[in-house]
Amino acid sequence: LILLLGALLAAYLIGSIPTALWVGRRFFGLDIREHGSGNAGATNTFRVLGKRPGSVVMAIDVLKGWVATSLAGLLVTQGALAPENLLYAQLGCGALAVVGHIYPIWAGFRGGKGVATVLGMMLAIAPATVGVCILVFITVLLVSRYVSLSSMTAGVAFALLQLLPAFRPQHPLLLWFGFVLAALLIYTHRANIGRLRAGTESRVPMPWDKK
Ligand code: G3P
Repeated sequence: LILLLGALLAAYLIGSIPTALWVGRRFFGLDIREHGSGNAGATNTFRVLGKRPGSVVMAIDVLKGWVATSLAGLLVTQGALAPENLLYAQLGCGALAVVGHIYPIWAGFRGGKGVATVLGMMLAIAPATVGVCILVFITVLLVSRYVSLSSMTAGVAFALLQLLPAFRPQHPLLLWFGFVLAALLIYTHRANIGRLRAGTESRVPMPWDKK
């Protein structure tokens, strides 16, 4: 039990690593939360600081979710957790990493929106479903140019895919969890939803756009 609690705490602390904030401060001397959308995430890093810093933040934030969720597997291989409880521990560790990303202890509890960290978490649990969600994300992005809308649609798609026989999870808990995560992503994007409705949400320019 001590090891399980330790893993959950470690997952929250890993999720709390404020990558976007750190890259902005360390290499550009600015607080990313005062620029662009004001979000401490990969999208806003791409928007404000460019492709390379954006990719670094994206990769680390995805990795945070994946590493934290994988701690559960470590507990099983160390004999500290029964294999039948693996999914519970994965969902617990992954969810705490996502909470850490959104409410980081190292950054005044003002973090990102959880998209990259949810992606990393679910890559460790249901990679095939995530693959389809990435296609959904890319399609919505190409059509709408809104990252926020693409993120929310991909989150909802993850939950809905669990209802299809081909993607049906081994455990009903994953289905419920999919809906909880989709609701969480919609909640963290509430300011984006307001901007989308007002027509003021920023769009991603595509290389082939006419100037
Ligand atoms: O990664 C979060 C994304 O869906 C929206 O970010 O900066 O446009 O609010 P942003």
